[in-house]
Parts: sequence; structure tokens; C-alpha cells
Amino acid sequence: MAGVQLEAARLTKRFGDRTAVEELSFSARQGEVVGLLGPNGAGKTTTIRLLTTVLAPTSGSFSVAGVPCTRPSEIRRRVGVLPESSGYPGHQTGTAYLRYHARLYGLSRSDAERVAGRLLAEVGLAERASSRISTYSRGMRQRLGIARALVNDPAVVFLDEPTLGLDPAGQRQVLAIVRDIAACRGATVILSTHALHEVEEVCTSVLILHRGTVRTSGTVGDVTRAVAAQRYAQLRVPLELVGRAREALAGVAGLTLEPADERPDILRISLNEGPATRQGGPNTGMNGPLRAVLSADVPVLSFEVEGARLSDAFLAMTREGAQ
Ligand SMILES: Nc1ncnc2c1ncn2[C@@H]1O[C@H](COP(=O)(O)OP(=O)(O)O)[C@@H](O)[C@H]1O
Ligand SMILES: [Mg+2]
Repeated sequence: MAGVQLEAARLTKRFGDRTAVEELSFSARQGEVVGLLGPNGAGKTTTIRLLTTVLAPTSGSFSVAGVPCTRPSEIRRRVGVLPESSGYPGHQTGTAYLRYHARLYGLSRSDAERVAGRLLAEVGLAERASSRISTYSRGMRQRLGIARALVNDPAVVFLDEPTLGLDPAGQRQVLAIVRDIAACRGATVILSTHALHEVEEVCTSVLILHRGTVRTSGTVGDVTRAVAAQRYAQLRVPLELVGRAREALAGVAGLTLEPADERPDILRISLNEGPATRQGGPNTGMNGPLRAVLSADVPVLSFEVEGARLSDAFLAMTREGAQ
């Protein structure tokens, strides 16, 4: 089994009285692609800044590539980062830019030249190597930024929303590079994103963050399965009968009725199914609530059970007001 390259233990960061990251614990092995998934403000960027030693934690600890957080400069030598937003010197060529950064890590002039050429090829920019960066598209700049994050041959690569603002083709190119970084270089990749399909496509495991806390974590399959045990359904009833439907549902055991949101005629319910009730079949758990509503003489206009998909897990766990 490949070694652990990243380990965080109860990592916490507060800005004044705002907690950006709270008690974050996880580990990642060599060659893994870990998705940090969460909406804006979830704490993704702060997590990456902590783990790359840009910010000091308020409490907790971590290690990267076997180096404890008490030795930040050593960690910085072993990681590569594509920050949330980075500027590029438009007047420089792609080659010159990468050569410069390789030199910062102490490479000789000729080694830096060689590394720059190899990295530009790796991110599909070989043909534009001697064009000025100002002529690059946004996708090309992102790929150049990823190449820059690789100049020191890092053990752990952090990419903060690398596909943000790219068209579908640009996103696909970036995701293919992410896969290669893990598969061909054997590096560990931490990929932050708010796009579920990216996690499903390239990540081996995922941490769903919401307001600085980990809502759930594990392999993409595990997280999806865990959420399958906690199932959600949406029930639409006539607006004037919402009150009666809510009353009827309040009497059903093992069911949580979510607070109303912008669509008061849609009732969201979650069922906390134990293993015993699940044996009855995939959907029997929803019979109780349906029966309760119908026997209160409330017509059900639509009824939808959310399936076991990562997107459902994500939505359920990051919904405003979710506990
Ligand atoms: N330097 C800072 N000072 C104060 N608050 C911050 C700072 N950086 C982030 N935050 C707050 O911490 C929370 C998490 O932010 P961030 O890590 O940027 O989330 P994400 O990258 O998931 O969008 C947000 O509420 C944000 O406003
Ligand atoms: Mg961010």
C-alpha cells in the first residue's frame, strides 16, 4: 500500500470570530486524488492555504510528505500549488516563465530549460512555448499554472478550483492533466472544486466541506453509499393544504421534515433508515409518509425520491440550514 503523503489532525483556522475551517481531519496516500468539495465559503481555499503553510493554523496539526507542520519551509519545497487566482507576467513566454520558476528551486540554467520544455509538453502547451503569456487563453494560463506547480517535482499538488471559468473543452484538458499527475507522477493531488462531476470523474476520495466542517468523507463510492442510507424525498402538495400535510407527516416515526424554503408547496423529507427497514426493498421506507399524507386527504401532486448519487449527498449536506 502506497504511503500516506498527507495527514491533517483537527486542523482549525479562525479569522476573528469567524471559523473558516473547523477540526478538519483526513489523510491521503500517494497517487490519490482527493476532492475538496463544497460551495463558496466552505473553507476550501483556507484548507489549501493551511496545508501549503501560507496560513498558520489556529489549532491542530498536519504533515505533508512526511514533514510535520513545524517545518514549513521544508513542506513548501515538497508541494506544488495552483492558487485560487494567480497573475501571470503577460510579456513573458511560457518557457521563460517556467524556466524562471525552476531556477527559483535552484535548478541549473540547462536543467531549468529542460524541465520547462518537458512540463510545457506535459500540459499540452509545447506548440505555444515561445508565445507570450498575454496571448494565452484562460485555459492555457491555467495549464501553465499547473505546470508551474510541478517544477519542483512535488509529492503533493494542490489545485484550487483549477477549472473555474473554463469552457467544457478547457475543463476536460485540465482534468486529464490532473489524472496524469496522480497516475504518471505518482503524486497526491488535492483538488478543490464546487463541481460534483469533476469529483466523480477524477477523484479517488472526497471530503464534502460545508461552513468549514467536513460533512462527510471517504471514497466516492463510500460517500454515495452512506447517503443512500439517509434518503430524501420531495413531495409536492397543493399550496393551501401544506399545513395539513405537514401535520400528517409530523406523526410519522423516523422521518425529519425539513424547513420550508422558497417553494413552500414542496415538502422535503428525510428518512433515517436503519439496516432493518432497508431490507424491505429500495423504496418501502417512503410508503409511510406517502400513506400519512394521502390519508389526511391531501393529494400528492408529485413525489420524487433522490437516488444514491454523489450530487444528492452534496446537495443534502450543503443545503442552507443543514445540520
Ligand atoms: N483572510 C480572511 N479573513 C477573514 N475571513 C476569511 C479570510 N479568508 C477566508 N475567510 C472566510 O472563511 C470562510 C471560508 O473561505 P474560503 O476558504 O475562501 O472558502 P472557499 O474557498 O471554499 O470558497 C469564508 O467565510 C471566508 O469569508
Ligand atoms: Mg476558494
